[in-house]
Amino acid sequence: MTLSPGHTHGPIGLFDSGVGGGTVLRHIRRLLPSEDVIYLADQAHCPYGNRPPHDVRRLSKANTRWLISQGAKAIVVACNTASAVALRALRAQFPHVPFVGMVPPVKPAAQCTRTGVVGVLATPTTLNGDLLQEVIRQWAQGVTVVSREDHGLVELVEAGHLETPETESLLAHSLAPMLAEGADAIVLGCTHYAYLRPAIRRLVGPDVTILDAGEAVAQQVARVLRARQLCHPDRVRTGRVRYATTANPAQLARQVTHLGLPPGPVVAVEL
Ligand code: DGL
Repeated sequence: MTLSPGHTHGPIGLFDSGVGGGTVLRHIRRLLPSEDVIYLADQAHCPYGNRPPHDVRRLSKANTRWLISQGAKAIVVACNTASAVALRALRAQFPHVPFVGMVPPVKPAAQCTRTGVVGVLATPTTLNGDLLQEVIRQWAQGVTVVSREDHGLVELVEAGHLETPETESLLAHSLAPMLAEGADAIVLGCTHYAYLRPAIRRLVGPDVTILDAGEAVAQQVARVLRARQLCHPDRVRTGRVRYATTANPAQLARQVTHLGLPPGPVVAVEL
């Protein structure tokens, strides 16, 4: 059944270039178990992080249009790259749709650092976008921010290589300059990286705080649904989770299982 957008029975829509947004989906599921969720992975165009901003905006608009066609009552841009360069354009083009986007958690990192040095790991497009610079200007005055561009981690996560030697060596290469500068808080500025927490923890040791925005975004989704009176009226039901991919549905189904994401049917879509 397809519902018109804005309907309390509609699903929460999420999109990402791939499985990264699953790290946000988990938190949404935990916080809002009675809501239906539809997750779109634009895996035919993954990764987004090396694409020029106009390209990410075009893809983000196509993803949004499809989620709206599925009756999404709110859309979570579960991708830091798309949030950095497309969120403003999405809000302008779809003014009736409530959007929630990712913001790298620089603010809590700046609040918790004792050394005054914070590391930020993100994709090139996120690091070069205005959003991160704005957040640093606003919340990290007086804090040294050491940022590193990721090249290849997203692809390794998509391939399920969360703890392989190749993944650990790429991570070690990115984290070394942050640790050398004395960073005691590491901001995960890409939703894919939250899957790498165990590997990152091993590399940084027990005293470094690792931050990702998944839980904060889920809380924001809950606030937006309440404020717009969009919560599903039946609070005791268990909502359904569905997945869609622009690439291979059998492969996404395998990834859902491998990553321990909430189970649900997977379909292929052409945008
Ligand atoms: N998971 C996305 C992000 O948060 C996309 C990464 C990519 O596709 O390069 O930035």
